Amino acid sequence: MKFSSFFITGTDTEVGKTLIASSLILKLQELGFKTVGYKPVAAGMHESNGHWINDDVENLLKVSQRVDPELQAKDICPYILKEPAAPHLVAEIEGARLDMQSMLHQYQALQNKFNSVVVEGAGGFLVPIDENQNLGDFAQGIHLPVILVVNIKLGCINHALLTAEAIENRGLSLFAWVANSTHPENEYTLSNIETLQAKLLKKFNAHFLGHIPFSKEIAQKDIYSIDKLISTSKYLLLK
Ligand SMILES: Nc1ncnc2c1ncn2[C@@H]1O[C@H](COP(=O)(O)OP(=O)(O)OP(=O)(O)O)[C@@H](O)[C@H]1O
Ligand SMILES: [Mg+2]
Repeated sequence: MKFSSFFITGTDTEVGKTLIASSLILKLQELGFKTVGYKPVAAGMHESNGHWINDDVENLLKVSQRVDPELQAKDICPYILKEPAAPHLVAEIEGARLDMQSMLHQYQALQNKFNSVVVEGAGGFLVPIDENQNLGDFAQGIHLPVILVVNIKLGCINHALLTAEAIENRGLSLFAWVANSTHPENEYTLSNIETLQAKLLKKFNAHFLGHIPFSKEIAQKDIYSIDKLISTSKYLLLK
């Protein structure tokens, strides 16, 4: 294994980044790494058993706690915002300032402690943090190999190639990509994957890590079970 830390981005919001980041953490743990998750900013909380939680942070925390049971939500995400909307807008409404240096420092603290960190972005690659900076700048700051999650649907080839160009333009390496079907497959699913496989390899030297098929059980869940994540991780062809 060449790398053990990655930045997970996606062609859009709701494409399966959390599903794949959490599954990848389990896969890396299985390979012997003490891997934990990190999310620089998360937007959208709801009440569950008397606690306010964010589903992404809960998913990443659950798999990270297998390495360190003491980890808490605030350790793996410095900014958990209440409203489910664009982070810079929610921050403004909630009177918070999303500080890039804090995001970078907290990531570095996890990297110093665990050596293997899977970082999930928020939304797509260029989601703003404030009026000047975006998550692409954060990705540049941590400089990890990038894994792109592509939700396989009409339009995904264009979205994937745009994102790949943005990643490359920042001097980052698009290490690999994952095809994910958040909706049932159709007659074009395979040809879309094959087209992307050829283009992303030829132009960006990005490896295809696998296709996560549509699963009714996954679609119905916000917090994924460890069993489901383990079965999903088996689709990731990471050696
Ligand atoms: N393979 C799949 N089969 C069925 N449903 C899926 C699949 N992958 C993801 N989903 C569903 O799609 C939704 C989005 O998934 P997920 O939360 O992992 O995406 P995300 O990219 O992390 O979103 P966000 O931008 O909010 O962080 C969830 O409701 C999830 O259950
Ligand atoms: Mg997510």
